[in-house]
Amino acid sequence: ELPLDELIASIAVDVPDFPEPGVVFRDLTPVFADAEAFRRVVDGLAAPARTDPRVAALRSGQDDPGFDVVVGVEARGFLLAAAVALAAGTGVVPVRKAGKLPRERISADYALEYGTATLELHTDSLHKGQRVLLVDDVLATGGTLGAAVGLVEQLGAVVSAVAVVVELPALGGREALAPHSVHALWTT
Ligand code: PRP
Ligand code: MG
Repeated sequence: ELPLDELIASIAVDVPDFPEPGVVFRDLTPVFADAEAFRRVVDGLAAPARTDPRVAALRSGQDDPGFDVVVGVEARGFLLAAAVALAAGTGVVPVRKAGKLPRERISADYALEYGTATLELHTDSLHKGQRVLLVDDVLATGGTLGAAVGLVEQLGAVVSAVAVVVELPALGGREALAPHSVHALWTT
């Protein structure tokens, strides 16, 4: 059996010059479409305590994954977060792009290459002290997940770990999210 990082690398497709010239886009859609790869990705994201001692330290017992709920970031994070929650035996909470959540919410702006974008979270979706596994597909600059971390913490919840399929270390996302624990299945 291939190690998971090699399996992901063998199925992901590099797309040159997308979304703009000079950028190589790592397309994970074929990884999610592959039954074995998707199962192993979800299992890997659902078990950060297996590889991260800081998450392992948060466990209260063998059946405790080290988090109480999974938070997924719209849009690609949604494909993963619900599956991870089901695998871990928790519920799932969405962080959404601006204007989509109907009830009382908090907002966080984050930088894009040109301009800014906004993420939102329902105010009553997490409670004080609740342990959160934050899930997305890609960690690049960390702008997206940094904004999501801010929203989670604004509600008094605690980030157990940030889990992603792919980390692009050249873009500094891990440093941007410090001191939070970043758990990446593939680093490239
Ligand atoms: C992509 C990706 C991550 C984010 C990573 O999302 O899915 O969420 O960028 O980049 P960063 O670390 O520099 O913030 P995008 O906003 O393109 O949209 P999508 O998930 O809705 O497709
Ligand atoms: Mg995204």
